[in-house]
Amino acid sequence: LISLAELSEKEVHDILERAVFWASQKDHELPESLKSLSKPIVCNLFFEPSTRTRFSFEVAAKKLNLHVLNFDYKSSSAQKGETFYDTIRTLESMGVGIAIVRSSEEYLLSEIADKIKTTSLINAGAGMSEHPTQALLDMLTIKEEFGSFKGLKVSIIGDVKHSRVARSSLHALHRFGAKVSLCGPDIFIPDNSAFPFKMDVLDLETALNSADIVMLLRIQNERHNISLGHYREQFGLTSSRVQLMQPHARIMHPAPFNRGVEIDDELVESERSLIFKQVANGVAVRMAVLERAFNLK
Ligand code: CP
Repeated sequence: LISLAELSEKEVHDILERAVFWASQKDHELPESLKSLSKPIVCNLFFEPSTRTRFSFEVAAKKLNLHVLNFDYKSSSAQKGETFYDTIRTLESMGVGIAIVRSSEEYLLSEIADKIKTTSLINAGAGMSEHPTQALLDMLTIKEEFGSFKGLKVSIIGDVKHSRVARSSLHALHRFGAKVSLCGPDIFIPDNSAFPFKMDVLDLETALNSADIVMLLRIQNERHNISLGHYREQFGLTSSRVQLMQPHARIMHPAPFNRGVEIDDELVESERSLIFKQVANGVAVRMAVLERAFNLK
């Protein structure tokens, strides 16, 4: 799973449905296909920091009875100049079934995918381009809360330009019938020509009072040197601004979040917030994605 665009609508629905199944299982019996797996080893290769994605893939794999290897970049032969292709090819030769990769490079996986025959590749976040499993877990969370995507109004607020989460999620939501609008400092709003569909750019008040879902984003300081003072005052979701939202509207954030910057501390775990539900759904979605990668269903 390198890009969400490679999935048909049916495949997205299947993954979400399977994630609902896994989320409902407590002491589950594994499917026979998982028990008889010939290469039940997955490897996490994270070249960028992560808490949620890395550990939820690990938890998901362990719940499926898979063996997990964690690649440590700093102590690996990448330090001696080994290329990414040779690293994956080496793991493939050892019998690793799935490589889960996070990188700051956008095309790392697509460049080698054709040459790797027996190890499935999963994108766990690539530069500013894509984060497909985050988009899937966001979709699952929205589906659980609202039932469907059609006609939903989603305001994405923050550093949209440098966010792979925004890029994956806005494509997915648009494809399934939601209306996505953007809001944030001009410098963080991408040119609309970067997208195959038109998105409105709203002022903060309209973004908040028109939305069913307010999706907040962190400023991606690791991707640029833009320093903004007064972000909370200008674009933060504060305890007073939250009153502008409709009563049924919900807050989402892929996290990590900065309490007191893009969202006030007391809103993170408020009744309106789906943030930790998103994290929980990440495990079920990644179980479904791992299962699909092993072609088990
Ligand atoms: N949302 C997300 O990708 O979080 P991590 O960077 O902690 O994995």
